Amino acid sequence: MAQAATKPIVIDESIVDPSKKLRAAVVGLGWIARAQVESYLRCPDVDLVAFSEVVPGKAEAFIKDLGLEDRGIHIYRSSKEMYQNEGLDLVSICTSNSFHEPLVVEALDAGVNVLCEKPMCVTLDEAVRMCSAAKRSGKVLSIGFQPRMAKCMQDIVNIVQSGQLGEVYYMQSGGGRRRGIPTPYGTSFIQSSKAGFGAMGDIGCYSLDMLLNAVGYPKPLTVSAYKSDFFGKDPASYKGHPEYAEIFDVDDFAAAFIRLEGDIILDFRIAWAMHMDTTGDALILGKKGGLRIPAAQAWNGALNAPLRIYHDIAGEMVETDMPFQEEDLSELNYKKVRAFVSAVNYGTPVPVPGEQILYQQAILDGITRSAELGREVEIHIPEI
Ligand SMILES: NC(=O)c1ccc[n+]([C@@H]2O[C@H](COP(=O)([O-])OP(=O)(O)OC[C@H]3O[C@@H](n4cnc5c(N)ncnc54)[C@H](O)[C@@H]3O)[C@@H](O)[C@H]2O)c1
Repeated sequence: MAQAATKPIVIDESIVDPSKKLRAAVVGLGWIARAQVESYLRCPDVDLVAFSEVVPGKAEAFIKDLGLEDRGIHIYRSSKEMYQNEGLDLVSICTSNSFHEPLVVEALDAGVNVLCEKPMCVTLDEAVRMCSAAKRSGKVLSIGFQPRMAKCMQDIVNIVQSGQLGEVYYMQSGGGRRRGIPTPYGTSFIQSSKAGFGAMGDIGCYSLDMLLNAVGYPKPLTVSAYKSDFFGKDPASYKGHPEYAEIFDVDDFAAAFIRLEGDIILDFRIAWAMHMDTTGDALILGKKGGLRIPAAQAWNGALNAPLRIYHDIAGEMVETDMPFQEEDLSELNYKKVRAFVSAVNYGTPVPVPGEQILYQQAILDGITRSAELGREVEIHIPEI
């Protein structure tokens, strides 16, 4: 079954009640944790009470760097101990992808609501265990796709759901990077022991979410995929760090042909590095109209040109541009956190439910399997 069509997320700050404080924690104090912590600090109904980080001294430095010394935030090396001591209402899991699943399951089993960073995890089995834990705990599991909060991404959902395109039969992802293997802050993204996969999971997950969400997350059925690592394995790709090529063991490019329930084809391509500026615009083709989503960083909620609808009016082929406004993308992380906190505190819709992203994880899992086998594979998603 397809998931229900997702309504765009509305942030309503008028419901925020500062007397209803939630006790919050963050696990993994790296790059994205900073954006999350700064967002929690803007929520008057949240008390940040604890951090968990495995690298000695890193939490202390993080607290000092953000000027949080006066807040009495408790520091733990063990997240398990943190759950035992802190009586938490919610936690953000901000570690590398490979550690999401055990940490999310641990938090949910401790009765704590979870915001897990994107991508949800690495394999389908992991995603199933995470969704099962959410179900048995009755707690919220939301995944950190902040582009969902962007007006242009919400326009895409609204256009498709309005019926302007008619029945959708083909979607093509676009964008990607000419050069952009993410190594400026270390090597956690290029080692499969931490990241699980490369471009396909890191930025491909945004492309998949943008398109799948627009059509209500239909169930994936089969996938035939290819992935490569030509740039990642080349020492010339790393200025000043040729040794990174030795440890690079993920993909830097992936392409896949995916069949979805409802006779929809998803033509997927993504790159951290390639001899091309873009893999093209993202496209959604329907029986009554087509939607062009300009390439730029379409995988990341950032457009630099209007969404364009191609349709026929009175027998003539016409194009309609959606009104385009530049957005402050730096606000999207705050909106992601705010929407999650409101779901926990006031029962508003869970912004990006884990059971929805389960279908995306099934695709990523299928891409890995198919690329390794060199043939099409079927996707089977167990009932949760
Ligand atoms: N939403 C976004 O825009 C965005 C941006 C960047 C990264 N991310 C995602 O956020 C996650 C983390 O990325 P990052 O760049 O912050 O990584 P990072 O490597 O900078 O930080 C991860 C931190 O987690 C810590 N850690 C690992 N295992 C732990 C454990 N068991 N308990 C406590 N701490 C642990 C590490 O020591 C490290 O400090 C990834 O899944 C990534 O895809 C999301």
